[in-house]
Amino acid sequence: MKAIVARVALVLAGAVPLGAAAQPAAPSTASPAPQTASAADIAAERAFFAAEVKKAIAGKEKEPAETVFKNVQVMKGMPAERLLRAMEFGFGPALGVSCTHCHMPGKWESDEDPTKKIAREMMAMNRAINDQHLKKIEGLKGPNPAVSCTTCHRGQVKPATSMSPPQAR
Ligand code: HEC
Ligand code: HEC
Repeated sequence: MKAIVARVALVLAGAVPLGAAAQPAAPSTASPAPQTASAADIAAERAFFAAEVKKAIAGKEKEPAETVFKNVQVMKGMPAERLLRAMEFGFGPALGVSCTHCHMPGKWESDEDPTKKIAREMMAMNRAINDQHLKKIEGLKGPNPAVSCTTCHRGQVKPATSMSPPQAR
C-alpha cells in the first residue's frame, strides 16, 4: 500500500506518466488468467483518489452531487458520496480500470478525456436498455430485470463478443 501511495504521489507530481504501472502489460501471450496483483494495485489507486476527493468535499458528502461537484450532468440528485462510491466500486471495477482511465486526477470536472464522455453515453444507453427495452419483454423471471456496466464489461474495457477466451486485441 505504501508503495502505491508513493507511486500515486509521483504521478501527481508529474514524475511518472499517468497510469503507467496501473495498466496491465499488453497481453502478448493472451493469458486469460486475471492479474490479481495489478488488479489490487488498481483498486488501491482508486481508493487513494476517492479518499482525496472525499477529503476535499468533507462536510458536504450528503448534499446533491450536482451542487457539490462542478460538472455533473447525469448523476444528479444523488448524494455526493454516492457518486464517489459509484466511481470507486461501480465504474472502476466494472471496466477494470483506475480513475485515470476517464479523468485527469484533480481535474475531475474536466470533460477533456473522451473516455469520460463515452461513459456518460454508456449511462444513457444502459438506462434505455433497462427502462425501454427490458421492460417490454414479457415472461422474464426476475422481479426487476436489469443490466449494468458489469453485465457487459465484466472487468474489461472492451466487452467480449464471443465465448472464446480473451484474445490479444
Ligand atoms: C469509466 C469512466 C470513469 C471512471 C473509471 C471514473 N469516473 Fe469519475 N466520472 C465519470 C463521469 C462520466 C462523470 C460525470 C458524471 C455525470 O455527468 O453525471 C464523472 C464524475 C466524477 C466527479 C465529479 C466531478 C465534477 O466536479 O463534476 C468526480 C469527483 C469523480 N468522477 C471522481 C472519480 C474518482 C475518484 C474515480 C476513481 C475512484 C473516478 N471518478 C472514476 C467517469 C468515470
Ligand atoms: C449492453 C452492453 C454494455 C453496457 C451495459 C455498458 N457497456 Fe460500455 N461498452 C460496451 C461496448 C460494446 C463498448 C465498445 C468496446 C469497443 O471499443 O469495441 C463499450 C465501451 C465503453 C467505454 C469505452 C472503452 C474505452 O476505450 O475505454 C467506456 C468508458 C464504457 N463502455 C463505460 C461503460 C459504463 C460506465 C457503463 C455503465 C454505466 C457501461 N459502459 C455499460 C458495452 C456496454
